[in-house]
Amino acid sequence: MLVVDQVLDLSRPVAVLLIAVLHFIADADDPYAIVARLMDAVPPGSYLVMAHGASDIAPEAAPEMARRYNDMSSAPITLRHRDQVARFFDGLGLLLPGLVPISQRPMSRWSSACSRERSPKPSMRGARAVRTPGKNWLMWRSTCWVSPR
Ligand SMILES: C[S@@+](CC[C@H](N)C(=O)[O-])C[C@H]1O[C@@H](n2cnc3c(N)ncnc32)[C@H](O)[C@@H]1O
Repeated sequence: MLVVDQVLDLSRPVAVLLIAVLHFIADADDPYAIVARLMDAVPPGSYLVMAHGASDIAPEAAPEMARRYNDMSSAPITLRHRDQVARFFDGLGLLLPGLVPISQRPMSRWSSACSRERSPKPSMRGARAVRTPGKNWLMWRSTCWVSPR
């Protein structure tokens, strides 16, 4: 079994990258508890970076897209609404530009490759947030925060 603290120095902040992963975790498996457990295990100042399949960016197409994907895949997806994705960041300090369609992320090579060229509409939301140093995180680098909702 891999012991994380043998490969990561958890005396310093790390980045938890959950890119196109959490939509594979069904509600029944409580993805919110998984993310909370991960972020509780990393030091203050650590980052959470996420991209998640969106049900509300192209709401007219999303159910059929998910149905077709799930018909073909051994790993079914659960697309989530913006508010449901925002919930993953509860208790963390969301950084600018907030929780946005990934094509709106500035300087994003991924978004230009995946969203702009292949599809005029992105199908994922992305955001980054930081585990804050304490309860008074609003006072800490306050200009960086945005509302998660
Ligand atoms: C679309 S890939 C994204 C991989 C990588 N994060 C990236 O951006 O290139 C989806 C990843 O989710 C993982 N995955 C699928 N179902 C999962 C599950 N139930 N638990 C954990 N990981 C899962 C797959 O193994 C795969 O690595």
